Amino acid sequence: MARLAGRTALITGVGGGMGRAASLRFAAEGARIVGCDMDAATAEETARLVRDAGGEIAVTAPVDLGDAAAAAAWVEAGIGEAGDADILYNNASSPRFGAMDELSVEDWDHTMRNELDLVFYVSKAFWPHLKRRGGGVILNVGSIAGIRGVEFMAQNAHGAAKGGVLSLTQQLAAEGGRFGIRCVAVSPGFTVTPQTAWLVETGPQAFRDNIARIPLQRVGQPDDIVNAALFLASDEASWITGVNLVVDGGQSVLG
Ligand SMILES: NC(=O)c1ccc[n+]([C@@H]2O[C@H](COP(=O)([O-])OP(=O)(O)OC[C@H]3O[C@@H](n4cnc5c(N)ncnc54)[C@H](O)[C@@H]3O)[C@@H](O)[C@H]2O)c1
Repeated sequence: MARLAGRTALITGVGGGMGRAASLRFAAEGARIVGCDMDAATAEETARLVRDAGGEIAVTAPVDLGDAAAAAAWVEAGIGEAGDADILYNNASSPRFGAMDELSVEDWDHTMRNELDLVFYVSKAFWPHLKRRGGGVILNVGSIAGIRGVEFMAQNAHGAAKGGVLSLTQQLAAEGGRFGIRCVAVSPGFTVTPQTAWLVETGPQAFRDNIARIPLQRVGQPDDIVNAALFLASDEASWITGVNLVVDGGQSVLG
């Protein structure tokens, strides 16, 4: 039995590593995908891969979700075209990293805009629709950067933005429950995607030392994260809301 049969999922950042894996997997589980990305070429490639695998997907790109009006327009058009939507998978993000004395105000603003603001904009546009239809799921991608500080990565802005995403998840769960709206988060540890792969071989030594200590002895793959997301988005999780499911091979329990 397909676990998402008859469902429609709005997925942001479908051109990226996890967004592509999520689109393929959610479609394989029976969901119709409504995707977007800032990057038209990678988003179109994801659409092609999903269709080649027999899935259903509509993609709009480029869309800059850091622009509130553009985010709302994408949500409205996506729902209109699909007829309905009951899952929002807030996956897109674009962080900048820097130590406290190096991170510029512009880097901070860029990170807040493209990791936290966009989650609020898209969720806000989707919220009235969810209320009207009697519920659904908002699934946010957090990060273990949002739950701890580390010495091996200058994650000032990124950690603060993801901490905000996790906090928003709890509040939307509290506000949404009575409308049948669940809001949940999945927080990846280090996961190999096209943008992060270089870190495994040539990242800073302290970073590589840390991932070598991951209790489950390997870094994450996009499907590790998507498996957790699939569970949280499915009816198997119908009494789960407000949680942050950490998927990191145990990375975040290390001292
Ligand atoms: N890869 C990791 O190790 C890791 C760890 C923890 C959390 N995460 C989180 O997982 C999610 C996916 O990460 P990934 O590694 O697949 O990243 P990625 O960079 O491969 O994909 C992100 C996608 O989001 C799109 N995007 C960025 N800003 C956008 C905007 N303003 N409007 C529309 N699209 C936008 C990008 O174009 C890109 O295709 C992100 O939320 C990320 O913070 C990743």
